[in-house]
Amino acid sequence: MTISTLEFNRSWITDQKDHLVNTQKIQFYDLHTTRNEFESDILKGLAQRPAAIPPKYFYDSKGSELFDAITELPEYYPTRTEIGILTANAADIAKRIGTGSLLVEPGGGSCAKVHILLEGLKPQAYVPMDISKDHLRLAAEDLAIAFPWLEIHAACTDYSREMRLPPNAPKGTHVAFFPGSSIGNFNPEDAVVFLTSIAELVGSEGYLLIGVDLKKDKSILEAAYDDAQGVTAEFNLNLLTRINRELKGDFDLTAWQHKALYDEQRGRIEMHLISSAEQTVTLNRGSLNRASFCFRQGESIHTENSYKYSTEEFISLAAQAGFESDALWCDDEQLFSVHLFRQCLSET
Ligand code: AVJ
Repeated sequence: MTISTLEFNRSWITDQKDHLVNTQKIQFYDLHTTRNEFESDILKGLAQRPAAIPPKYFYDSKGSELFDAITELPEYYPTRTEIGILTANAADIAKRIGTGSLLVEPGGGSCAKVHILLEGLKPQAYVPMDISKDHLRLAAEDLAIAFPWLEIHAACTDYSREMRLPPNAPKGTHVAFFPGSSIGNFNPEDAVVFLTSIAELVGSEGYLLIGVDLKKDKSILEAAYDDAQGVTAEFNLNLLTRINRELKGDFDLTAWQHKALYDEQRGRIEMHLISSAEQTVTLNRGSLNRASFCFRQGESIHTENSYKYSTEEFISLAAQAGFESDALWCDDEQLFSVHLFRQCLSET
């Protein structure tokens, strides 16, 4: 960690002390070492053909709110199905892992599903890591109120770029919790790279508890990503609103359409924003700093992939990262899977 990061950490913690009662239970860390790369990633993504923007940029505060709304939609089965699986098997999970662990949740910005595990697992500390600082802060505060005995170390970091534990995190068997099929945002090769970094983080004998969406009928999948109320469409389009606001863009929101399709060959849902006319979009970040992008009618900005895996496929993917299957739970309809893996890399 650099000196400037340390200084920034301290100011954030100080800032918290003014507003929080039980600061001794929550520690906040800003572990961002690299500058926010939103601007350069968007410029690059809009210039390339086909245009593509990394899905992590969905999650500004409005986007996080919309995602929370998605998880309640009748068509979006993953969240409630996974919660059902975790709830039904919480005791078994706790028995396998044991108490006193260090529970780390990359992307745990809303601290929502961890509730289910905490009573049984009784971890020594919980470490949510998230890119969205305000979302993380509010959720960690709520969690501290619901679980007054829990030590929380909340780290603001982009886990897809770097995965580090906060400096004061206690020891204990390391357990990574990665629910929600967030792993689906990586293509399979990158998923192996990411799982390898989790394997390094948890260390030998450490655990990974991960939720993975299963392959299934195209119609169920496409409905889950193109709901009748249009919440997913709004979530997708909010990316353009964010670009307009943060990078002074002039995207016409009425000239773009949400599209979700399941590519059975690749086993992935793709989300796109489709240009409904020939148009030019300009980011006006000052007279010397202007960039324009032309789109034909029907041209797409690819905004997300969400990969689906059979249980066998995922077990062999995780094996490439040094994880051995310890247990596997699914719902009765075989919509969703929760895997418990144990790191089995021999230490030299
Ligand atoms: C957060 C990546 C798991 O792929 O289902 C939901 C994101 N996008 N609806 C998913 C998402 C559109 C979600 N993940």
